[in-house]
Amino acid sequence: MDRVPVRDELADVEPYGAPQLDVPVRLNTNETPFRPPDAFFEQLAKRVAALDLQRYPDRRAWALRTELGRRFGLPPGRVWAANGSNEILQQLLQAYGGSGRRLLVFRPGYSMYPLLAKATATPMAVVDLDRGGYLDETVARRAAETEQPDIVFLDSPNNPTGITAPLGAVRQLHEHSRALVVVDEAYVEFGGDSAVALLDELPRLAVCRTFSKAWRLAGLRLGYLLAHEWVVDDLRKVRLPYHLDALTQAAGLTALELADDVTAHVEVLVGERERLVEALRQIGGVEVWEESRANFLLFSTAVPDLFDRLLAKGVLVRDFSREPLLDGCLRVTVGTRGENDTFLTALRECLQ
Ligand SMILES: Cc1ncc(COP(=O)(O)O)c(C=O)c1O
Repeated sequence: MDRVPVRDELADVEPYGAPQLDVPVRLNTNETPFRPPDAFFEQLAKRVAALDLQRYPDRRAWALRTELGRRFGLPPGRVWAANGSNEILQQLLQAYGGSGRRLLVFRPGYSMYPLLAKATATPMAVVDLDRGGYLDETVARRAAETEQPDIVFLDSPNNPTGITAPLGAVRQLHEHSRALVVVDEAYVEFGGDSAVALLDELPRLAVCRTFSKAWRLAGLRLGYLLAHEWVVDDLRKVRLPYHLDALTQAAGLTALELADDVTAHVEVLVGERERLVEALRQIGGVEVWEESRANFLLFSTAVPDLFDRLLAKGVLVRDFSREPLLDGCLRVTVGTRGENDTFLTALRECLQ
């Protein structure tokens, strides 16, 4: 034998793989199309020049967690930061998942949840939402009671529908289980209610956020969690030493200093989202999820190879058309006005 078999749970896993293709219009991974402002790079350069990179970074990322907490009126002991919210979700499963525990997720939902469950050997219960993708209080309560999870991942706005979960559903999940309820708010800056308002009311609630979308820093890898102190204490048991490097901490602090400038584009993208909804509504044969509060839209058509046809026209979107509950669905990230127009033109041509 000249290879070691991978762990059984991983045998059929496909590595996360939204294609990274060099095409003119890339609307498949929900990044913002706008570069961070020049002032961000100028101030970051100054901070980086002052770093003692021969030393390990601040293991606690204390300054960053302090500044993040300040935005929400929370002390740093209730804030956690790591390399993207994906790492935080993984750390949460390392701390509260594993064999003998159960993760509850909803479908459709973020495609990484099942992968993270497998990687951490966490059994997963999947509850299907209805065809529209809504989570109401009844579905939430039933899911909590039936599945009795130890941890829940709920993306709100949902990826890929963009629909936000009502806060009442979050309360039901909390009330009817013993689980840590993690609300994944990767897109919340683009709209929708935030569960942060429930943090003091619900002792087993945590809210996960990212700098990858509204903060324009997907290339950075920085996410954070707002939670109760016991959660942060537990995450310290599973994180690698010095997990968050000094450059990332410096960049996060710089972005927070320039918060208004860095996030100013959100308004533009929300306007473009609404324009896209309206345009998609006008195209015959397209059904669009109109309630998206995120920076993307889900839509479906009856054209089986639409993803490939759009790609042939230089427009890359995300293909969900063969996923359960998402028959014929594609997801398009809101881009610049020009990118959105190119997408719309290509779509109209493909459907003719
Ligand atoms: C719902 C959701 N959560 C988390 C993430 C991960 O974001 P990051 O690891 O870049 O912070 C994404 C990324 O697309 C997402 O869609």
